[in-house]
Amino acid sequence: MGRLKVNTREGDLSDVGYDFLCENKPNSRRNKKLLVEQIRKLRKIGDLPPVYPNGWFALAESPDIKVSQVKYVAALGEHFAIFRTKDGDINVLDAYCPHLGANMAIGGIVHGNCLECPFHGWKFSGDDGKCVDIPYTSSKVPPSAKVRKWLSKEVNNFIFIWYHAENEEPAWHIQHIPEIQSGKWWYRGRNEFIINSHIQEIPENGADVAHLNAIHAPSLLGGYDIRNYNKKWLGFCKHRWSAKWAACQEPDSRHIGVMKLLHEMYLFNKFTVITMDVTATQIGPSYVELLIKTTFGPMMVLQTVTPIEPMLQRVIHRVYSPPLLSPYATLLLYGETVMVARDVMVWNHKEYIRRPLLVKEDQTIQLHRRWYNQFYSENSPKFSFQKDNMEW
Ligand code: FES
Ligand SMILES: [Fe+2]
Repeated sequence: MGRLKVNTREGDLSDVGYDFLCENKPNSRRNKKLLVEQIRKLRKIGDLPPVYPNGWFALAESPDIKVSQVKYVAALGEHFAIFRTKDGDINVLDAYCPHLGANMAIGGIVHGNCLECPFHGWKFSGDDGKCVDIPYTSSKVPPSAKVRKWLSKEVNNFIFIWYHAENEEPAWHIQHIPEIQSGKWWYRGRNEFIINSHIQEIPENGADVAHLNAIHAPSLLGGYDIRNYNKKWLGFCKHRWSAKWAACQEPDSRHIGVMKLLHEMYLFNKFTVITMDVTATQIGPSYVELLIKTTFGPMMVLQTVTPIEPMLQRVIHRVYSPPLLSPYATLLLYGETVMVARDVMVWNHKEYIRRPLLVKEDQTIQLHRRWYNQFYSENSPKFSFQKDNMEW
């Protein structure tokens, strides 16, 4: 069985939901990645919304980029060079050098506030992306020698950039969480998934109330493989969920949707042993703050979704808690990883249905779609465009 990775640095598309490709074939495990790519191509995609919504997207986590380091990230159909200056500030520029096309994030050198291209040493300012020095020329730096500078913000240990298909200014900002900023809550760990789906499927899960008591009801001790997780001998222990989702109505918080969730773990159909009161605040198209109130105190899970490609999402969860709740937070991270992996197993293989067959109780799915629609605009990239022109 694929292994769930908690606290490792890398997720992999073949981690969850593709074991069936190798079962009973002793030699195929080595080729699993190849088999995953094949099934990805054959998979029915459906009639997709635009592939990159407008909003703040996490490109990296703060500890990934130390002082004077540069990191290459490809996401949202763009190529980013993210670097940290000596003063600790983050700058994000387009990665490809306009001189002869080197990728400046691979071997580039950080000088003060500038990024130096490894190929011929042109230096680009992190402030505005303009070339400020060509070391071997006596002529002036041409004004067209510049790369795109991306608006970025380092918040809650993520590095976000603002992406907008019409290049509009940010319509909102992600706020610091005081308990994380002040160090009152400690970082307790992370997980990371690479998921074969459209970005919208992932936040929509929060408005899909009925799936909770289906795939998240069997005991988490049964694991994440939804083909065999509902084991008879674990029938004494189950999870029960009740949830409500609503979009915020105030004019300055229309980009926010809130899910209230009550979780109970109960034994022998009777005794509730654990309860959790969760408020999941979805801020824009790709970032969620989950505040979890337990009998012992609060904990926080932060979730980011970043489209690496139209149908490939990187999802990261980072867990925080007061120091005394550390063991509990570690358990929470484990439980959350298993539960999310169950969703991943569905997402990896499902089709997107533009007009789903919904019953009355599913109506929040429709509300969520209407709400999420605000993050698409006229020039938001469409999947067919990508397919025809980018050999995706
Ligand atoms: S390619 Fe970057 S300086 Fe020449
Ligand atoms: Fe779910």
